[in-house]
Amino acid sequence: MKLVFLGPPGAGKGTQAEKICEYFGIAHISTGDMLRREMREGTELGNAAKAVIEAGGLVSDDIIIGMVKNRVNEPDCENGFLLDGFPRTIAQAEALEGITAVDMAVNIDVPAGVLVDRISGRRMCSGCGAGYHISKYTRDTCEKCGAPLYIRDDDKPETVLNRISVYNDKTQPLIDFYDNKGLLKNVDGNRTPEEVLADIKALVESI
Ligand code: AP5
Repeated sequence: MKLVFLGPPGAGKGTQAEKICEYFGIAHISTGDMLRREMREGTELGNAAKAVIEAGGLVSDDIIIGMVKNRVNEPDCENGFLLDGFPRTIAQAEALEGITAVDMAVNIDVPAGVLVDRISGRRMCSGCGAGYHISKYTRDTCEKCGAPLYIRDDDKPETVLNRISVYNDKTQPLIDFYDNKGLLKNVDGNRTPEEVLADIKALVESI
């Protein structure tokens, strides 16, 4: 099973991906999480990507495609995987076709006004990368691993608006790209996480 999640920043891709991957026993490949790990570890790639990410731009296609190509060949991807945050440009989507075929692209649709509120309330775990929202979770340490929570550098309001604009310009065209291939499924993401999850599970079960 090979899935792609599309959707603007804050749509709930990471939240849903974690649950879907656990339920179907497939690997969760988040290019955003991979880049944040590189930044935390201070690798050459992490240092090169830092300024672009903090400005809300996109890391170069070559770097990202290389990263994903290696990742999908790892043993935990044998049963399948879910790509969360990749592809993000037409060039990445075309490159993915050369790497593997996908079974479905799920577009999580959420209005722009809701996104800013979701992102401004997001808190991330500095240890395991788990995500929270202050409306539901008020502690300042992670309930899974106990590490302190932090606000992502690219979650500042001015950066969020740039990320949404970059999404509209570079990533939204992928909705038509996958629709034209008969692979697109739309999900209304402006509901409770449980309702969204139920819809996505039903779609994936229909593959
Ligand atoms: P990435 O980490 O992929 O960020 P993103 O796509 O902007 O998505 P987010 O992580 O902001 O949101 P999400 O949709 O996962 O929402 P979440 O579930 O957290 O990428 C970061 C950066 O890395 C990019 O800007 C770029 O620079 C670079 N990058 C990554 N991939 C790249 C690529 N392929 N090419 C080039 N550059 C790349 O939810 C958000 C909040 O809402 C949370 O607090 C959550 O608790 C809450 N929430 C979730 N669902 C609901 C719901 N149904 N109702 C209410 N609240 C909800």
